Amino acid sequence: MTTSATGFESLQSHASRLEGTGIAGLLKDEPGRVDAHALQVGPLYANFARQRYDAAAWDALLQLARQLELPVAFRRLFDGEKINLTEGRSVLHTALRGDLSQSPVAREAYQTAAEVRQRMHALVRELEASDVTDIVSVGIGGSDLGPRLVADALRGPLPGRFRVHFISNVDGAAAQRVLAPLDPKRTAAVFISKTFGTQETLLNGAIVRDWLGSSERIYAVSANPGRAASAFDIAPERVLPMWDWVGGRYSLWSAVGFPIALAIGTEAFDQLLAGAAGFDRHVLEAPLEANLAVRHGLTAVWNRNALGLASHAVMTYDQRLALLPAYLQQLVMESLGKRVKVDGSPVDGDTVPVWWGGAGTDVQHSFFQALHQGTGIVPADFIGTVRNDDPYAQNHEALMSNLLAQTEALANGQASEDPHRAYPGGRPSTTILLESLTPRSLGALLAMYEHSVYVQSVVWGINAFDQFGVELGKQVANTLLPALRGESQAQDPVTAALIARLRG
Ligand code: F6P
Repeated sequence: MTTSATGFESLQSHASRLEGTGIAGLLKDEPGRVDAHALQVGPLYANFARQRYDAAAWDALLQLARQLELPVAFRRLFDGEKINLTEGRSVLHTALRGDLSQSPVAREAYQTAAEVRQRMHALVRELEASDVTDIVSVGIGGSDLGPRLVADALRGPLPGRFRVHFISNVDGAAAQRVLAPLDPKRTAAVFISKTFGTQETLLNGAIVRDWLGSSERIYAVSANPGRAASAFDIAPERVLPMWDWVGGRYSLWSAVGFPIALAIGTEAFDQLLAGAAGFDRHVLEAPLEANLAVRHGLTAVWNRNALGLASHAVMTYDQRLALLPAYLQQLVMESLGKRVKVDGSPVDGDTVPVWWGGAGTDVQHSFFQALHQGTGIVPADFIGTVRNDDPYAQNHEALMSNLLAQTEALANGQASEDPHRAYPGGRPSTTILLESLTPRSLGALLAMYEHSVYVQSVVWGINAFDQFGVELGKQVANTLLPALRGESQAQDPVTAALIARLRG
């Protein structure tokens, strides 16, 4: 079952009813609202009291979730039913971090993943015992963003056992900048590609292999291990598998996380998985009204389909999470950027808004002007930590006071007789606080976003696990290569003119 247009209309009528009630008004009208709209799940606390729904509108959202049988949808995911219908695949990233399934398929996936994890850990130990100092990870999209985010978020202030570097963009400047300061004799490389057919990774892999001078210290992760081994002559024992039941953007928990394990160690990697598994258990066991992923996902639906808001921002008030918005852009927009339902019919309302964001307080001095006084309203997640891990307590206080101040000012605004100095308020946000930034809390946070995406996909009736939209551009790029080399003629007149320029 999917949401019908009338399902959204009922949400819109709640939105119209609440139009004149500001966020301050909602707080006044609903005693106990601050706690009623807050959830604590393991290391995550989230407060939704500054969203623009009241108890009745929230009930309507919950009603929608009940009609759609969200718990059944979660069970299907965890049990490895082929919910990626357009590709005929199971979606089992949850089996990479725990076994909460009731099906042999998912259990087998869990066991296979655990075996590969042991192999990966052994390779980490082997490298730790070597004289390698630097690791270069080559991959793009889901084969880059997750490992890059987590390695950056959880690394200490001093280099760990390895310095881990990432090359993703096909722009040769990216490879040049990473490789120039490194010593090929003390460097190992990990090539990550689910398909091993990705242009960027093949080109950058060749650059790195040539720079290393041999394939001896190259490792690979792929769902196509044969292709990985033969493309770069990598010994099979250094090739780790992944599977078609793991989407790239959901894969950091698999051997795709090899650079993470190298950056933070195998124990911390296991804790990251444990944090995600803990959240998985919550998703399966908590009732809808107390389920954080359901709350987050339905809030996103409310902002998009009831309030018609076309973008969503993520503000990390923790510098170590600065890469989170880029990671979430792929997770959310590649998953939910769809205009037809699973059965091919057009969706009934808007789907994914534009996700973007940045790290506070920096972004307060760049785009926050527009958030406070622009004509568009941008709902946002503000993410902070209760405890900091640096020795600068005063800075942490200042950082948190800014998080609190921004969310308050966005919600409440401030009247002024001078229109230039008036703040309209009414700008919704959710505040998410982690006890501290640890492998466990980060694992839980990322799992929360994964499951929220799934909730939204169920409401919209779309497949969150394919990404056909990225293919056309790749195909056209391949056909234009000969034209750029002067071996053929581009058909499109604008492209032809631009190629003439590029060819000088
Ligand atoms: O272009 C998008 C995409 O297909 C992503 O979904 C994927 O994460 C990325 O490319 C990289 O693909 P691969 O891991 O096969 O190299």
